[in-house]
Amino acid sequence: MIRRSTDAHATETTSPAADLLNSVPLLALDRQYDTLRDQIREAINRVCDSGRFVLGPDVAELEAELATALDVPHVISCASGSDALLLALMALDIGVGDEVIVPSYTFFATASAVTRLGAVPIFADIDPATYLVDPRDVERKISTRTKAIVPVHLFGRTADMDALRPIAARAGLPIVEDAAQSILSTWHGRCSGSLGDVGCFSFYPTKNLGGAGDGGFLTTTRDDIAKSLKLLRVHGMEPRYYHEVIGINSRLDSIQAAVLRVKLPHLDAWTTARQVNAGRYRDLFAEYDLAGRIAVPGEEPRGRHVWNQFVVRVLGDDRDALRAHLAKRGVGTEIYYPVPLHLQKCFAHLGWAKGDLPETERAAEQTIALPIFPELDAMEQRTVVARIAEFFGAGRRERAAAATSALPTPHVLRRAVGKADDVRC
Ligand SMILES: Cc1ncc(COP(=O)(O)O)c(C=O)c1O
Repeated sequence: MIRRSTDAHATETTSPAADLLNSVPLLALDRQYDTLRDQIREAINRVCDSGRFVLGPDVAELEAELATALDVPHVISCASGSDALLLALMALDIGVGDEVIVPSYTFFATASAVTRLGAVPIFADIDPATYLVDPRDVERKISTRTKAIVPVHLFGRTADMDALRPIAARAGLPIVEDAAQSILSTWHGRCSGSLGDVGCFSFYPTKNLGGAGDGGFLTTTRDDIAKSLKLLRVHGMEPRYYHEVIGINSRLDSIQAAVLRVKLPHLDAWTTARQVNAGRYRDLFAEYDLAGRIAVPGEEPRGRHVWNQFVVRVLGDDRDALRAHLAKRGVGTEIYYPVPLHLQKCFAHLGWAKGDLPETERAAEQTIALPIFPELDAMEQRTVVARIAEFFGAGRRERAAAATSALPTPHVLRRAVGKADDVRC
């Protein structure tokens, strides 16, 4: 069921089935590295020559450059996004018995940071349209023991801060943004990480700004939190061998900072490429008439969505069979996340059961992430969507026959760039 486009982009995106590719990777870091190879190696050599491997000048420079890019007064780098979350909660004095509200539909580190401090994660359900934490459920779960709220800007889309901020303010609670997947996403023109009390980012290689290993950073507009974070990431030590508080060792390596400084100037363009890819997917899913089978994520009208992942919902219960079909056809996919955190074995003692968070559980069963990386090309995207159409067509002959007689949907590649108020990021 391959439909031909009729518009100006036809040569770019139209192909008979025989031209479909044999494989499409979920992520191809080598394509990005190929464009920056010499600069990255030079940067690594410079650090090796300097002998300053931990928190060196490159780290300070990177922090300053990120502060400018995100328009936030304080950037404090650390060893990973997981540590960023831990340090943020430590800076807010979260401790034994405190409750912290987090989504269950997120990466493990969002909740494990809470439990590592002896505090209790209280899981909130998601909005099924965005997969982001549902502010109404957050509000319902606030108790006298609640000490913080951690929204996750999952897949690159900012959580509903219009709703969350007044809820937190009314309850007198700080907001820790888990922005690990959302660097350069915005909300009414302001970058994620500057929308709450403290923001936590990851440089894990699959992130939009990925290092050559682990790394992370924190952002804050609050001078008091910035001061605590700088102490906490170096064992609470100031001056050398004098410890004011008990911190951890979570410093960014200079080699990571040097590599990231090569990449940062390209991040805005890479982000725009992701947005273009997301728009192209939406057009392709419409063109292949998959609306009854697949729910495609929408744009965020209140800010910039940075598409760390393009996660679609497979309507019905075909997700795993579709994934197996795509794997057979060489199309890389991933499930983010197959087991919601409230149902993880290690959290069984917290007493959550299946059925407690219905939208989270449904998303875990129905969603699948497709390739969205900036260097992905139009033919690769067409292959992904055509292979999905093939799966549904193969199972339902009568539908496929009806579809081939239908008129082709005009294909329009949207100019999916950031909004005017997003130019800073
Ligand atoms: C939502 C979320 N939070 C936290 C993290 C932890 O980041 P890191 O892998 O750098 O520790 C990640 C990244 O994997 C993430 O996706």
